Amino acid sequence: MSLAVTLSRAQEGVAAPQVMVEVHLSGGLPGTNIVGLPEAAVREARDRVRVAIQNTAFEYPNRRVTVNLAPAELPKDGGRFDLAIALGILAAGNQVPREKLDDCEFLGELALSGALRGVSGVLPALLRARARGRKVVVPRANAAEAALIPDADVRVADTLAEVCGWLRGGQDLALPIGAEIAADATYGPDLIDVRGQRQARRALEIAATGGHHLLLVGPPGTGKTMLAERLPGILPPLTESEALESCAILSVAGQVVDPSKWRRRAFRAPHHTASAVALVGGGSQPRPGEISLAHNGVLFLDELPEFSRHVLDVLREPLESGSIVISRASRQSTFPAQFQLVAAMNPCPCGYAGDPRQRCQCTPDQIQRYRGRISGPLLDRIDMCVDVPRQPLTELSAKRGAHDEDSATVRARVVKARHQALVRAGRSNAEISTRELERDCALGPAERAWFEGALERLGLSARAYHRTLRVARTIADLDGGAAALDRVHLAEALQYRRF
Ligand SMILES: Nc1ncnc2c1ncn2[C@@H]1O[C@H](COP(=O)(O)OP(=O)(O)O)[C@@H](O)[C@H]1O
Ligand SMILES: [Mg+2]
Repeated sequence: MSLAVTLSRAQEGVAAPQVMVEVHLSGGLPGTNIVGLPEAAVREARDRVRVAIQNTAFEYPNRRVTVNLAPAELPKDGGRFDLAIALGILAAGNQVPREKLDDCEFLGELALSGALRGVSGVLPALLRARARGRKVVVPRANAAEAALIPDADVRVADTLAEVCGWLRGGQDLALPIGAEIAADATYGPDLIDVRGQRQARRALEIAATGGHHLLLVGPPGTGKTMLAERLPGILPPLTESEALESCAILSVAGQVVDPSKWRRRAFRAPHHTASAVALVGGGSQPRPGEISLAHNGVLFLDELPEFSRHVLDVLREPLESGSIVISRASRQSTFPAQFQLVAAMNPCPCGYAGDPRQRCQCTPDQIQRYRGRISGPLLDRIDMCVDVPRQPLTELSAKRGAHDEDSATVRARVVKARHQALVRAGRSNAEISTRELERDCALGPAERAWFEGALERLGLSARAYHRTLRVARTIADLDGGAAALDRVHLAEALQYRRF
């Protein structure tokens, strides 16, 4: 009996657990048995691997072939182990040498011709292999993705034959050469395009600084979508490890990673008809949803009241924890989902409530019902709400004014002010605990009395107290980072509370 072992990696959420492929050749009736894959996958893998080996001018062993994928309980979907299985079979039959197999991992599906096909989730697998100091062979289709990790030991191949040639001491495999990797963030749309809307611009800057979730309320066509799209561009660029994390999610979702944009923060805008699965992820092979694709970036929910109640309810857990657990019969996958929420809505169903130029057609009852569609617990997570009113036409046609700054100018202030929060608590103001908040928001007796009086007059709850304080802390950070909050900071923060 002869035995060979090759290494590969499964995909489980954004993790990439190691899989050992053990191949035994033994006497007895010829045939192939694969243990550790679902039945349908076994049949397909068996055929692909056998034909690919034959088409690569090797012999398929005329013996009993037992392939065991360990550990048994991991998700082992699709063809990502084909290459590792084929090499195991060839090594067990001494058709390729085993020396290089110990410190190398293999990913790739085989076509019947012996050509290698790309697989999803290569990036997380490479990160893990790099941590173990192993070389990884991937299909050429995954080369651009592989090239994102500067010091990973990766080789790319087009065919099974090429990999076998290399194992036998022949020509070295190619290095992954991707497109030029952008060292800096490229930022996308710029705030310079937005005319007027001073209050909304200010709110966007505060939200960016503190990481506060933001609700924009205004009639159609006033720039809500424009403003939301410009939030990623005033946030600090992703760090390298954040960028890799975000790319790993794209990789698992089977989406192409564009190296020229990989330091840019995500902006995801799912339509209000999106299902709960599309939004938070799911499926029999769990895939990340929009909230995970927005990880470290912005999730924009336009027409918030049009989203179904159920869909908005499933957002609550990830808004709380920064991740989402997807449970399937036999296993759980966890995907990161730390996003900043920007939501937009009309003030009423027809959109014109409060508009000086157009009469609103809605009854108070309709307006009430429309606003009531958004659940309280979701609104509770939104620290800031701002009006985006219709503007005079003169404002839109005016030349660029002194207040129409570009994104780079605003971003510089955001980065500086964010730094204060990081030094103080290690996190953004939206994320600090109530206790840290009390510690970091010193209020003098006069300020406290004034603030409590104001909350009472506005009919705001005790919950609003802490939410407002968080925003006031961020405003003070933008204002130089004074330890004590003064009335100006508190008063501005109160403007952004509406509920
Ligand atoms: N404040 C603004 N500055 C410049 N252009 C604007 C502004 N508001 C609206 N527009 C123009 O109107 C279009 C629609 O704006 P949009 O952001 O989609 O509005 P909303 O999302 O509020 O319905 C934009 O593409 C832009 O051309
Ligand atoms: Mg819009």
